[in-house]
Amino acid sequence: MTDPMPGLTGPRARHGSTLGQPLTRRDGVLKVTGAARYAADNHPPGMLYAVLAVSRVARGRVTFLDVEAARAVPGVVEVMTHANAPRLATDPDEKTNPFAFRLNVLQSDRVRFPNQPIAVVIAETLEAATEGAERLAPRFDEEPARAALDDGEVFTPAVVGAGSPADVAHGEVEAGLGAASHRVEATYDTPAQYHNTMETHAVVAAWDGNRLSLDLPSQALAMTQMRLGQLLGIMPGDIHIRSPFLGGGFGSKAGVSGPQLLGIMAARLLGRPVKLVLSREQAFGPVGHRAPTRQTLRLGADGEGRLTALHHHTRTATSSFDDFYEAASGASHSLYASPAIRTSHDAVRLDTGTPTFMRAPGEAPGSLALECAMDEMAEACGMDPLAFRLANYAEVEPMTGRPFSSKALRECYEQGAARFGWAGRPLAPRQMRDEAGLLVGWGMGTATFPALMFQGQARAVIRADGTGLMETGAHDMGQGAWTALAQVAADGLGLPIDAVEFRAGSSDLPDAGIAGGSAHMATAGMAVHEAAAAAIARLADLATGDERSPLFGAGNAGVVARDGRLVRRDDESRHESYADILARAGVAEIEGRGRAARDPAAGADYAMHAHGAVFAEVKVDPELGQIRATRLVGAFAVGRVINPRLVQSQLYGGMIWGLSFALHEKAVVDRRSGRVMNANLGEYHVPVNADVPPMEAILVEEHDPYVNALGIKGVGEIGITGSAGAIANAVRHATGTRVRSFPIGLADLL
Ligand code: MOS
Repeated sequence: MTDPMPGLTGPRARHGSTLGQPLTRRDGVLKVTGAARYAADNHPPGMLYAVLAVSRVARGRVTFLDVEAARAVPGVVEVMTHANAPRLATDPDEKTNPFAFRLNVLQSDRVRFPNQPIAVVIAETLEAATEGAERLAPRFDEEPARAALDDGEVFTPAVVGAGSPADVAHGEVEAGLGAASHRVEATYDTPAQYHNTMETHAVVAAWDGNRLSLDLPSQALAMTQMRLGQLLGIMPGDIHIRSPFLGGGFGSKAGVSGPQLLGIMAARLLGRPVKLVLSREQAFGPVGHRAPTRQTLRLGADGEGRLTALHHHTRTATSSFDDFYEAASGASHSLYASPAIRTSHDAVRLDTGTPTFMRAPGEAPGSLALECAMDEMAEACGMDPLAFRLANYAEVEPMTGRPFSSKALRECYEQGAARFGWAGRPLAPRQMRDEAGLLVGWGMGTATFPALMFQGQARAVIRADGTGLMETGAHDMGQGAWTALAQVAADGLGLPIDAVEFRAGSSDLPDAGIAGGSAHMATAGMAVHEAAAAAIARLADLATGDERSPLFGAGNAGVVARDGRLVRRDDESRHESYADILARAGVAEIEGRGRAARDPAAGADYAMHAHGAVFAEVKVDPELGQIRATRLVGAFAVGRVINPRLVQSQLYGGMIWGLSFALHEKAVVDRRSGRVMNANLGEYHVPVNADVPPMEAILVEEHDPYVNALGIKGVGEIGITGSAGAIANAVRHATGTRVRSFPIGLADLL
């Protein structure tokens, strides 16, 4: 491990370092001018267009497709159905690892969910392919759909989320509830949600013999390369994936999707490059979603408002043919102190596409239910919601007794409450009105997300001219990784950021791990940091071992890299430029390799989480029930902040997702057909600018020496947690009505 730079926490920058600087996105101009090339912007010579035909039924078999009519459309080259689709080297129904989801790619006539691909029409033009797909006029042998949480047989899965046990208990929950002075039992419903990335899933595939070239947005280049290699029967190294930009991923672009694989199969079948892009409607099914949940919280508290028991049970849904379970109860593992905690899950199988990780998987719905239940208990105890949470502050991880690697949640509560003006809040609901007579409510919620880290690699080069190169197969989904990782590279190489060429977003670069779990900066950032340190160490060896150098004899630890020079720590007047060191040694360039992974000992000894506190104001029209969020203040302790502008942007994005969860977002599923009835952005409501209130995201200083040497905890998902609950609790405070089914709409308040 290298020097963790003590004292350099939060948004402050070390003098002369790019770390902590609020740089704007290095790819910002490319994006706003339309010059950034997304996967679907590519048109290799000879390219054909592929359009999917999808099932309108939820379960059954395809009995007829009018392939002749589709082929008769001028420009249509081929129609790929289950009858002629290439067989794959590995059965896409084989579970090679828990994260390799089963894919529906025309290997049989079976239909397992609405919008499942049933054919691909490939043509010289997009228009012809679209027309051909419409002419297919499919017929089905239809079976009844299982569409809602009440429609399936309940079972308990072995594991939930990314592999956590479904049922975990610490202490005696029933005894704790029995001994309580106050008890709350409440059930909260959250709907299915769809990722709705601005860029729908797309692929441009070109084969050259057994080599495959892909433009494909990916949150996990190496994993995608590996899985595609297995499915297609070729070497992963013979697959080159370019993914310089993603128009959002949110978890849905972490694995191979069926539609993208179909585009690749079509290109192989026809021996020509093929482009396939999902329509918005087609993205509601085959590329994952967040499953609905029904969560039951049972809380007990003593006369002083301290929890005696907490049981969080989640019922969720998965598909008929695969396993993914929204781990919503996990939100109750680490947040509040209680002598007895149980988190449990069960599930039903529905005729739906397989759900998957979606931004703050588990924690987003789980935190909403937990924060509402905590608010209900605060009210039962006659306590202010913030005072109640402070009375149940977890000094150590409650279920294990492990210390936290760092936890500045108390400071988040203090700074957030002060900024919001929480102290003036009346205890009883329905006490505040604005000048227009609207009901005003204030609510709060605690935010938390695990500080994860995966494995990643990077390669650094210092060139003869003294400039640097950093390579890592990192992914920028819009979060600003291109910029923040370049800042880590520049800092590590001791160079101005413009003197470092930063390459990412391609599978021929070192594997940077998955851009998920809010862990990409910790993972890829540490790989970059280590690669830079390795390159600088080799450079220092060249200089300090050479008696012609002013650094001779300083020793590797006796020099520091700064502004393209190595400088003696004991005498700053003695220094030498990288270019001079390399020139004298006769070396064209030097290279350093970096690997990142969590220190296993620290990972075992400490509970690692980011924290925050979100305060919300809503206004509700007492006649119409119309709800508007009018103010959101969050304070977050997320370890080291590499770029405060980008971090705040991530936190704002998360808080808007929380707003969406509380008030807007819902897939409306037709109970008879199992189809999503609002599979478009007109009727599937995500917040637009007019829905988003003034927001503040305060970055609370936090130094964490255990998560990784840079002290990074991750910011991608925590903003959602806390926020949804804060808004729901503010609606209760405004109106006196407790709504437990989400999103909250005006009809719930009339
Ligand atoms: Mo995230 S749901 O880990 O992309």
